Amino acid sequence: MTDSPTIEIIENADLQPFNTMAVPGRAEYFCRVDNQQQLLQALDYANHRRLPVTALGGGSNLLLAADIAGLVVHLNLTGIHASEFAPGHFYVSFAAGENWHQAVEHCLQQGWYGLENLSLIPGNMGAAPIQNIGAYGVELCDLFVSLEAIEISSGELVVMDKQACQFGYRDSIFKQAGKGRYLITQVTLALSSEPQVNIQYPVLAEALRGKDPSPEQVSAAVCRIRREKLPDPQNIPNAGSFFKNPVIEAELLDRLLGSNTSMPHFQQPDNRAKVPAAWLIDQCGFRGLRSGNVGVHQHQALVLVNFGGTGAEILHLAQQIQDAVQERFSIALEIEPQIYGLPE
Ligand code: EPU
Repeated sequence: MTDSPTIEIIENADLQPFNTMAVPGRAEYFCRVDNQQQLLQALDYANHRRLPVTALGGGSNLLLAADIAGLVVHLNLTGIHASEFAPGHFYVSFAAGENWHQAVEHCLQQGWYGLENLSLIPGNMGAAPIQNIGAYGVELCDLFVSLEAIEISSGELVVMDKQACQFGYRDSIFKQAGKGRYLITQVTLALSSEPQVNIQYPVLAEALRGKDPSPEQVSAAVCRIRREKLPDPQNIPNAGSFFKNPVIEAELLDRLLGSNTSMPHFQQPDNRAKVPAAWLIDQCGFRGLRSGNVGVHQHQALVLVNFGGTGAEILHLAQQIQDAVQERFSIALEIEPQIYGLPE
């Protein structure tokens, strides 16, 4: 059994080091849990005092809009276990606190393939199902088997399969009906020792043109592309894409293509089309723009960056972008990261 000494509760804790946007903010109460027993202790503490509970992982997909009331639980559970369910096919279970990219590298080293397109995504394993992380033509749900979570109100362990998670594009039950109800403790993925390389995504196909790449080479190419376009939060604080790519009706697409012939768009199976939010924002002149202590990344207009500002300043800039895109293209941009600290 794991030794699980009593958790340490910190009052009025500084959350700036715990969000990659590096905005200032405090938690009324804060604790770190290293294992399931500590997590249950933390829930006991909160439930006895009727404190709301907020989960914190790598802090890479959230915006702190204000201080957080109640108990913030920093999920630090670690461990990776694999079982071979058929020759060359593995169920690999990752504890929620495992760093995503380190887990991808570990799997590549073991010869468990499937995660290479998702290399270098910031954050921890436990957060990956919440927004169904995706990049370069692969989404978490493509490899997902199940997850374990603790229901906050009851402390009960629940197991959820792919269907129960209701995955969509940057979406899951954890952003909808299950929002704020669970602490995800473990994620199980199906990986394979037989490489199934997917280089359909245009920029990846271009980078690997003429090659028959190994999963390791795909991973290296993805890392290269990401480093060119996306700012490293260690150097320029950010939370990745700040908006979802909108999906628009065929009628609006036709109308917009009439006056914007070069507008990139991707047909969806339901006859609607996904348009890159980065292109829309870029067209409105925001790329590289700095507004006070916050701004828009110069190489990727979808990424808002922080030069020492607050969550409120980021939200103000986001609103200006949403207004401009609405005005010019009649498209409502939806914020992608979770906003913490605002009343429900
Ligand atoms: N573009 C612009 N201006 C820019 C950047 C891009 O016009 O400043 C246009 C280009 O035409 C480009 C198109 O937008 O072809 C798409 O750009 P990109 O390939 O960089 O991808 P994205 O749609 O902007 C999405 C994800 C990223 C993911 C990449 C690669 C969302 C919200 N974002 O971005 O995910 O890494 O595809 O698969 O779906 C994240 O979620 O945090 C994230 C970074």
